[in-house]
Amino acid sequence: MAYETISATPLSPNIGAEIGNIDLTKPLGNRQIEELHQAFAQYQVIFFRDQKIDHEAHKALARQFGELHIHVGPSTESVPVAGEPEVRALHFDANSERVAGEVWHTDQSCAAIPPLGSILYLHTVPPDGGGDTMFASMYAAYDALSDRMKGYLDKLTATHDGRKVFGPNAPVNIHPIVAKHPISGRKLLYINRGQTSHINEVPRDESDAVLGFLYQHCAHPDFQLRFRWKPDSIAFWDNRCTHHRAIWDYYPNVRSGFRVQIKGSAAPVAA
Ligand code: SIN
Repeated sequence: MAYETISATPLSPNIGAEIGNIDLTKPLGNRQIEELHQAFAQYQVIFFRDQKIDHEAHKALARQFGELHIHVGPSTESVPVAGEPEVRALHFDANSERVAGEVWHTDQSCAAIPPLGSILYLHTVPPDGGGDTMFASMYAAYDALSDRMKGYLDKLTATHDGRKVFGPNAPVNIHPIVAKHPISGRKLLYINRGQTSHINEVPRDESDAVLGFLYQHCAHPDFQLRFRWKPDSIAFWDNRCTHHRAIWDYYPNVRSGFRVQIKGSAAPVAA
């Protein structure tokens, strides 16, 4: 697909592109915004380099895609910024006991309407590398299943239990296992190791075995890319069709930045 106002350099066959020819610290033109939407839909996760954005520019980019989402449930790994409830700080250093997102997951899949996407901006990254984020395409994961497995999963639902990660007051919701993306119409696998607890329509042992297979399948390198952060980089992922996982290999160094999330427009729909 051709772009006129931005550049889009694919980073792997199944997922991800680096977007260039854009300055996110300045107001964007209508055509640039249209092309960002196009690239987001095409690549599922888009990256930007050398963008020293403040909270206003961060929120302005997110608002081009929808209303801002406010994180549901407690979390110790990300904290709201004072006076900016939609902006959460992710700061990890020698005092951290854990970091956000170390298990493959979809953000807040435990919510009735999970966020559409997340925009993570890091201003500080470890000096010797490390702290990458991995992303995986759930379109590619679905497409690679056998027809028999696709048939088995069709019409099944899974419980997404936020208490697995966020503690006792987090939401619990049921979503279809095979969902249809609201924009692309493509089928995708909608389960994740972080928050899915069980498949509802089968015995627990069967659920554990099938989910175990699916988690392993979704983590296949063919569906992934690994993003190497530099200071002032941004990752913007479509939370409806991707998984991501943060790598904590940089202790005791500092990795720090801010995340804004965009509200979803509807609960995941069965394909
Ligand atoms: C997250 O799961 O939202 C954190 C991702 C990261 O820090 O790379």
